[in-house]
Amino acid sequence: MGYQEVYDSWKADPEGFWMQAAEAIDWDRKPSKALFDDNAPLYEWFKDGMVNTCWNAVDRHVEGGRGAQAALIHDSPITGTKHVITYAELKDRVASLAGALRAKGIDKGDRVIIYMPMVPEALEAMLACARLGAIHSVVFGGFAANELAVRIDDAKPKAIIAASCGLEPGRVVHYKPLLDGAIELAKHKPDFCVLFQREQEVAALIDGRDYDWHAFQAGVEPAECVPVEGDHPAYILYTSGTTGAPKGVVRPTGGHLVALNWTMKNIYNVDPGDVFWAASDVGWVVGHSYICYGPLIHGNTTIVFEGKPIGTPDAGTFWRIIEEHKVKTFFTAPTAFRAVKREDPKGEFLKKYDLSGLGAIYLAGERADPDTIEWTRELTGKPVYDHWWQTETGYTIAGNPVGIEPLPVKLGSPTVAMPGYDVQILDDAGHEVAPGELGAIAIKLPLPPGTLPTLWNAEERFRKSYLNTFPGYYETGDAGMKDEDGYLWIMARTDDVINVAGHRLSTGGMEEVLASHPDVAECAVIGVSDQLKGQMPVGFLCLTSGVNRPHDEITSECVKLVREKIGPVAAFKLAVVVDRLPKTRSGKILRGTMVSIADGKEFKMPATIDDPAILDEIREALQTIGYAK
Ligand code: COA
Ligand code: AMP
Repeated sequence: MGYQEVYDSWKADPEGFWMQAAEAIDWDRKPSKALFDDNAPLYEWFKDGMVNTCWNAVDRHVEGGRGAQAALIHDSPITGTKHVITYAELKDRVASLAGALRAKGIDKGDRVIIYMPMVPEALEAMLACARLGAIHSVVFGGFAANELAVRIDDAKPKAIIAASCGLEPGRVVHYKPLLDGAIELAKHKPDFCVLFQREQEVAALIDGRDYDWHAFQAGVEPAECVPVEGDHPAYILYTSGTTGAPKGVVRPTGGHLVALNWTMKNIYNVDPGDVFWAASDVGWVVGHSYICYGPLIHGNTTIVFEGKPIGTPDAGTFWRIIEEHKVKTFFTAPTAFRAVKREDPKGEFLKKYDLSGLGAIYLAGERADPDTIEWTRELTGKPVYDHWWQTETGYTIAGNPVGIEPLPVKLGSPTVAMPGYDVQILDDAGHEVAPGELGAIAIKLPLPPGTLPTLWNAEERFRKSYLNTFPGYYETGDAGMKDEDGYLWIMARTDDVINVAGHRLSTGGMEEVLASHPDVAECAVIGVSDQLKGQMPVGFLCLTSGVNRPHDEITSECVKLVREKIGPVAAFKLAVVVDRLPKTRSGKILRGTMVSIADGKEFKMPATIDDPAILDEIREALQTIGYAK
């Protein structure tokens, strides 16, 4: 069957399609049906099945004869170490950690926050939680204590598992003070913390609260897998929304297993035993789905990469790893290739390596610009596939179903909707627009298995953020179009979310931080185009009247404040002082117009603008920092 037949077969019989896909999963009790719609528009999948994620990702492969196969390869150019862990070893390590967690009172449904860098122990912590039916929430290491505290207060974890440090080029990221600071800031206090001590930094433990990773496991009974209901949350992953309060995306266990497993062959074209590499971070959804769960559920070998595309040690790192570990499918964000291209435009490093085992390269996380795709394709001689998805969905909404049938690539389009997704482009009134016309991208409900059923502790926010605008649809927050061939084109966000180096960030969140500066009366943050990172945040500050300090002092304090409160990952480095912000007559800040000015794009004067002269002031301010040329 080709793509169209597969897509049509899903559309004709979604229930049959997903029940068949569910056959590839080991259930402790098979679900009687796939979709449960009694609570529509909130939907659930495989709810009456019983299943365990860790069993499917680890134990069953050992039972099935893959015990000696590498489950994960840790390659850390930043520390100069490599380490292979087989499925059999992974099972023992995870069962031991799970046993220790259980001995300290962690049970099904308890939350556990994981704050770790790219080490195998991060995946082991995730899997140990899954083994017990505990709900993990991984927090990206680039977030500051305050962001961690917000997540602690929302998820209310019984335990936090952390490492002593992360490693960025030229800098040790001291996790322990961040962890202690976050616990201090948070209202909720975890019962205990487990610390994985790294060679590069041994953190001081707090007696009675903190346990050493190894000592904690000594002498405990390994834990077996605990079956959970199909709709039991596997994890919560916080992602940026319009405000500073992150959204806790809930991932349901059964659908997650079924859907991820389906994508491994049909989208990424790997067979069990093949090596799959997603160069991302476990703190992001790509890391959850394609460093940890997807490849392991499918019996692949996954690569845990602790490094950067450039500088660790050079722009040949990607190629070295692909050759050395025989990577069949490689997945990263376009920004990573932009970084490699900037450093090594002619691909001199690539010449040293043999990429013959590589099948294809996949890009996601932000819009893949045609230049980057073409450069990568020409240099490597490999197909480069863009695909579009979100933390909320956990896997591809639109992509190229290479394992079914590779479709022709149209540069700038992530290709077509995957089975499970009825993607439509809607106008403001919720009517589908004609092919080629721009509109809001929405997905007809129900969303497929594995996608978010709700937000953690925030059903109302879930409805408001995703379901209320277009009744009967999920609002993606992206705008774009569909062409005559059904190819989708993802053009921009419709909310205040920006994408910096493939990292999803909230301008609203940054504004909240800036507004807390005593000299700032009003502010706006926009995402301007950046050649390397796709977008970069720029802050506009209106000062409190009477403030008479040098502007560069205030802007650098603001830059420091965002780094302290949100974290280095916000990449907030540019701020300017302006007298006023451009607004509509009803007081809405015209951020879109400001972005157009910054990017030097033509724009239509908003009909409702209060005072057009302010736009010239904005242009002048942007020119002082090198934009709006
Ligand atoms: N822990 C602590 N700090 C982190 C971090 C982590 N896990 N990840 C990033 N940071 C820090 C960086 O050190 C940097 O700090 P600095 O301001 O002191 O330099 C800051 O956050 C911004 O990071 P980033 O935007 O990633 O920029 P960079 O200059 O370090 O690297 C790229 C640029 C393009 C090489 C890098 O962004 C990259 O590899 N991107 C791949 C994208 C990706 O994996 N996306 C995930 C979704 S698929
Ligand atoms: P995240 O939840 O971090 O994965 O970010 C999801 C958002 O990133 C989407 O809503 C899009 O705005 C953007 N995005 C992800 N992948 C793509 C892509 N292939 N093309 C365009 N935008 C993308």
